[in-house]
Amino acid sequence: MEKKMSKREWQNSMKVRVDYNNMMAEFVGAKEGFTVKEFDAIKGEINSAYDKVQANRGSGMMGWTELPYNQKEVVADILATAKDIKKSCDNFVVLGIGGSALGPIAVFQALCHLRHNELPKSKRKAPKLYVEDNVDPERMQALLDVIDVNKTVFNVITKSGSTSETMSQYLIIYDILKKALGDKAKDHIIATTSSNKGNLIKIAKEEGFKTLYIPDGVGGRFSEMCPVGLLAAAVVGIDIKAMLEGAAYMDKLCKAKDYKKNPGMILAVLQYLAMKKGKNISVMMPYADSLKYMADWYCQLWGESLGKALDLDGNIVNVGQTPVKALGVTDQHSQVQLYREGPFDKVITILAVDNYRTTVEIAKGCDNIPDVNFLCGHTMNELIQAERSATEYALTQAEKLNHTIYLPEVNAFTIGQLLFLFEMKTAFCGELMNINTYDQPGVEGGKNATYALLGRKGYEGQKAEMDAAPAKKDAFII
Ligand code: PA5
Repeated sequence: MEKKMSKREWQNSMKVRVDYNNMMAEFVGAKEGFTVKEFDAIKGEINSAYDKVQANRGSGMMGWTELPYNQKEVVADILATAKDIKKSCDNFVVLGIGGSALGPIAVFQALCHLRHNELPKSKRKAPKLYVEDNVDPERMQALLDVIDVNKTVFNVITKSGSTSETMSQYLIIYDILKKALGDKAKDHIIATTSSNKGNLIKIAKEEGFKTLYIPDGVGGRFSEMCPVGLLAAAVVGIDIKAMLEGAAYMDKLCKAKDYKKNPGMILAVLQYLAMKKGKNISVMMPYADSLKYMADWYCQLWGESLGKALDLDGNIVNVGQTPVKALGVTDQHSQVQLYREGPFDKVITILAVDNYRTTVEIAKGCDNIPDVNFLCGHTMNELIQAERSATEYALTQAEKLNHTIYLPEVNAFTIGQLLFLFEMKTAFCGELMNINTYDQPGVEGGKNATYALLGRKGYEGQKAEMDAAPAKKDAFII
């Protein structure tokens, strides 16, 4: 009889692995690839970035590093809240945008049935989940057309408590709820926000909404593993404790001082050196529909954290790598042509899954047509793995920098690892680049301009400045 694995053995069998062979000169060629010598040449910078990240853990805007360890009571509250929601509701709707939405979307897609909302309730065993991260009026109407607000809980998520998109959604929904439910409307809203800043916390206290808090040191794009993401995940039945354990497991790996043993640091170093060689595009290409929105989440994390005009010394640097999302194998039939034969301006990250959660056999047929029949007897699992290996091979043959991150399977533990790995990679890379990883003046500029255009008090100066901008010429509109 086979011996049952201990928890530690199982966790080790689920370790997320980074394979960067195809970033190295030995494999991708000397023109594009790197050597260990090049890594060693920046050892001082690497050590300094490592020391800064370790020194700042848990303080300032690096509160996210402690989320795997300091949320015992928060998790208990979330699980109890989720249990009540599951009992009483058919739908759970997240109202949020950016970091307050992309994590919940990515984790839902990764860890729930890919057609969760379409499953009958008896199979779903959890409410339907909708994450509304836009203010397209048609989308809002479409949501209202398919949900019964009487059987819906809305989770309004905004750290600043003032984002126009989220607050306008809140106003619309609360008005509808009050008209439909009167005094009971407040029981259908949960506010997830800062405990001490912004308007939402004031509103929540006045109205008596259930509230969950986003810690001060956790910025939007680093917030998936706090109440921002954990409540929605728990409502749809995801094991949030396992996700946090996965994050802690990866954290331990990313504490290795030797950069060659530290997956977060080696990924950061590779991208940093690649940027220096003009690779201004970071492609994230999962070979799994379940990981499709991980690429969206990554794009925000990477783009918003590292795309900066100034460095920490105030120099104008205009740095960053443009993140691009792709999906294997779908994009083999569109973007891969460009990746393989286009400019040498990209680093391609492939996300691979060793074991998919199901096996689908390719049925027998077309006996007289060998060019189709060769597929018979194989599985879709073999086909997608073969296509991934083929892409990796083709990219490497074309001297295009690429690497692969392997998930033994997609589960809460490996997803926790993956999220934390990308967060650590971003933190290390930000230090290497000497920029502020945690601010977003560009995003805030856009928010302020919206406030000005819609007449928010205090933004009159900005409105006047915008009104004074040169008017568009009809000649350039055809
Ligand atoms: O990463 C960030 O800080 C931003 O993308 C925010 O998440 C986004 O702008 C939404 O902000 P808020 O949660 O304050 O509504």
